[in-house]
Amino acid sequence: FLCAKKKSKGNWVNPEVKKEDAKVVDSCDIEDIGEKKVFCRCWRSALFPYCDGAHNKHNLETGDNVGPLIIGRKKS
Ligand code: FES
Repeated sequence: FLCAKKKSKGNWVNPEVKKEDAKVVDSCDIEDIGEKKVFCRCWRSALFPYCDGAHNKHNLETGDNVGPLIIGRKKS
C-alpha cells in the first residue's frame, strides 16, 4: 500500500527537491543566520531550503497561498 501511495505524484508536497533521498532534512546553525534567513515552505525554490521567490509563481498558477518562514534576530 505504501509503495502505491509513494508513486502517486499528485499527492506529493515536494515535486522535485532531493527526490533521491528517503527524507529531506536540512539544518542551519543559529550562529550562521546573521540578521535573518528566509526558508522555503512551498518546495519550489531552486535554492531550497531557502526561498527564492518561486512561491509567487506557484500561488499565481494554483491559487495557493504559501509563503516562506522568515527567521530573524530581534533588533536591540
Ligand atoms: Fe518557496 Fe518562497 S520559494 S516559499
